[in-house]
Amino acid sequence: MKTLFDKTAINGLELKNRFIRSATWERKADDKGHITDELMKVYSNLAEGGAAAIITGYAFVMEDEQPNARMMGIYDDSFIAEYKELTDMVHAKGSKIILQVVYCGSFSWFNTGRRIIWGPSAVPNKLTNVTPKEMTKEEIKTLINAFGDAALRAKKGGFDGVEIHGAHGYMLNTFLAPYFNQRTDEYGGSAGNRARILLEIYDDARSKTGNDFPVLMKLNCSDFMTDKGFTFEECKALCGTLAGKGIDAIDISGGPVFRAPKPDKDPSGFAEDFIGKESYFAGYAKEIADSIDAPVILVGGNRSVDVMEEILNSSRIEYMALGRPLLSEPDLVKKWERERGYKPRCTSCNKCFHEDGNDCDLDR
Ligand SMILES: Cc1cc2nc3c(=O)[nH]c(=O)nc-3n(C[C@H](O)[C@H](O)[C@H](O)COP(=O)(O)O)c2cc1C
Repeated sequence: MKTLFDKTAINGLELKNRFIRSATWERKADDKGHITDELMKVYSNLAEGGAAAIITGYAFVMEDEQPNARMMGIYDDSFIAEYKELTDMVHAKGSKIILQVVYCGSFSWFNTGRRIIWGPSAVPNKLTNVTPKEMTKEEIKTLINAFGDAALRAKKGGFDGVEIHGAHGYMLNTFLAPYFNQRTDEYGGSAGNRARILLEIYDDARSKTGNDFPVLMKLNCSDFMTDKGFTFEECKALCGTLAGKGIDAIDISGGPVFRAPKPDKDPSGFAEDFIGKESYFAGYAKEIADSIDAPVILVGGNRSVDVMEEILNSSRIEYMALGRPLLSEPDLVKKWERERGYKPRCTSCNKCFHEDGNDCDLDR
């Protein structure tokens, strides 16, 4: 019988329980993505709060591609020393910390007129009205290299691993979806071709950081688009390929459901199916976990110990990630340890997006 408080390990990384803080953009870095006291405080609270590992908010890997205000950066070596301070602090408080790395592409509203935004093809994003520039193969190589370099910097900065963001409509997700990826070269067309860039990024990160450094990936189990999205069958196949290559864990999410995009603005119409439900991607993650030989992390709507333990014990899912609940209560895991029936105060209201920092609305 598995419990949420089992001790486990991911590629040698010891974890004191099965709770992981899901990547959450805090909007508290400085304008260039550097650490601030405010951000240190967030991670200090999380490290004290009981989760075995913290996945950071997404960090941008190329200086010219900052897709959101006050997000973290990892685009040059100037970050290494300050991240070492952050990771040392988290380790001293008994938690582990994994850096999430991203290139957002067309799913961005930030400074969009002032940047060249890359994409697999020049297909307009109906949510943001951004039409990206179709990447040349040379640019694809540059991007792969930027992810790999970022992973190496994460290792040098004392992080316990790196998570490549392949979900939620961002750049790598758009490569996977035929709606956005209309390329006719080896990076477009078949599912294998559309996944190629993700596999090459994984390989680059792995070769630069070595076999002992945990490399994870976050994927949508499906884009839930009515037409031409990345499908569940394609996700399963990609997870199998990544597992065969030795990925250390796969974090299963789904379309950007926490934002509840409007069906009339977006080619998908999935959000309503998930709102108000608990652990809403469990069915998909269970099937993936059954089919691959790599640990699966389930994220999205995890809100109660009973439901999570039932999932753990009826599947090969190994970890539970929490985003909004830990934004609201960074010490939630400790509360659950004391009282398994504790009801988190997060109601998934999505009012945590604030211009002066993403915090729980109940604290305002
Ligand atoms: C304010 C906010 C910021 C987020 N930032 C990120 C991010 O940087 N990277 C990411 O992969 N997901 C991000 N997410 C999504 C969460 O990681 C998670 O997948 C989603 O909130 C569902 O999990 P939950 O129900 O536990 O909140 C964010 C969500 C919120 C609400």
